[in-house]
Amino acid sequence: MSEIAIEIESMSKSYRGEGEIVHVIRDLDLTVPLGQIVSVEGASGVGKSTLLHIVGSIDTPVEGKVRIFGEEITSMTERQKENFRAANVGLIFQHHYLLPDFTVLENVIMPLWIQRKNVSKSTDNAIEMLKNVGLGHRLHHYPSQISGGEMARAGVARALVGGKKLILADEPTGNLDRDNSEKLADLLWKLQEQLGFTMLIVTHDQDLAARVPRRFRLKEGHLEPFS
Ligand SMILES: Nc1ncnc2c1ncn2[C@@H]1O[C@H](COP(=O)(O)OP(=O)(O)O)[C@@H](O)[C@H]1O
Ligand SMILES: [Mg+2]
Repeated sequence: MSEIAIEIESMSKSYRGEGEIVHVIRDLDLTVPLGQIVSVEGASGVGKSTLLHIVGSIDTPVEGKVRIFGEEITSMTERQKENFRAANVGLIFQHHYLLPDFTVLENVIMPLWIQRKNVSKSTDNAIEMLKNVGLGHRLHHYPSQISGGEMARAGVARALVGGKKLILADEPTGNLDRDNSEKLADLLWKLQEQLGFTMLIVTHDQDLAARVPRRFRLKEGHLEPFS
């Protein structure tokens, strides 16, 4: 496998608005080695989520190439992208998007079930991941029966289950108070040390960003390093 997790070459993204074209990302380059934690900061509306979605193969650039673990996702078919994403990419959002009619455990098994993995092994993996995020005592609770901090941690377990090697986090602490934000950051760093995944974090949270070893600001379509 390639030693590089994320490789973006001359990537541009624009949207066609009401008659005019909005250039969100212009000729952007970024290389992230395996296992690195990188943040993307910047004002609201500058294109942080757009960049994250392109790296996660949910959105497509207008120009340029994106390779993840040496594979060019920009030339994959929708089906190939779906399979690639399911096997490699974990997404963490500001809002957890846990399915309300399923238990915490079922929510975390879901990504493995979608990949048609062995049911009893998937259950074991999901339970282990939930224990790892401190939710071993909440397996059979429904999302409405757990706290906001616990929901965020369940979202992390769902993103990581199955051994995902690339974690994309969009404002992961955006919905949490200071105490829970700090707990979530501690958890992400602990898991990263254990599991060695590469993580791209979009955030406004200065306490979270301060922990990140390689920080960028997205401004006028470009990434400016600032630490
Ligand atoms: N699907 C879309 N169609 C048109 N414009 C979009 C779309 N998605 C995002 N945009 C525009 O692209 C810009 C960047 O959005 P976004 O990536 O969500 O910013 P951020 O995450 O930094 O707040 C915004 O001006 C937004 O309005
Ligand atoms: Mg955003």
